Amino acid sequence: MTDPTKPKNNRRSAIAAIVAGALAVLTPLGVGIASFLTPLFKTKKSPKVRVALLSQVPDDGMPRSFPVVADRQDAWTGYEAQRIGAVYLVRNPGEAEPIAFTAKCPHAGCLVGYTPGDTVFKCPCHTSSFNLDGTRVRGDEEVSPRGMDTLPVELKKLSGDGDIEITEIHVEYIDYQTGHAEKHSTA
Ligand code: FES
Repeated sequence: MTDPTKPKNNRRSAIAAIVAGALAVLTPLGVGIASFLTPLFKTKKSPKVRVALLSQVPDDGMPRSFPVVADRQDAWTGYEAQRIGAVYLVRNPGEAEPIAFTAKCPHAGCLVGYTPGDTVFKCPCHTSSFNLDGTRVRGDEEVSPRGMDTLPVELKKLSGDGDIEITEIHVEYIDYQTGHAEKHSTA
């Protein structure tokens, strides 16, 4: 007499083998796809970048422009030491620390210009003007919805030769969204 349970056991074993086989194939595939797509979902960080020496920014209230150079990462490719933007540093009389403005216009992202000796920053794209403290010259009549964006500044003292003290200026280069009255990072 044949054992009535035998065909069932065979079927169960076959199903278990199929499931195990599928897992063996799909698990590494899933891990591979996840690691391939991960760069797309990474949040952008705002790099902290050394932009100048304090000695390059006298406390005369005049803006000085400096490039922002940092490593840049596109979805799957990294680029070393790329120019990612520019800042204006303004050190007012008697102040130890400068104010940093990103040169990116808050209206639509053009590079705001400054002519040495001038009393305002000017954006060449749609004529917004900003005072040297970053506020809009004509307030709400300017096409830019807000004043120039300030960036966090950090001074780092390095030990120099003898009595010479070297201080570096670092900024956190935050990329702000354009077109809004409020500051929102794009990160
Ligand atoms: S981008 Fe500067 S005013 Fe439009």
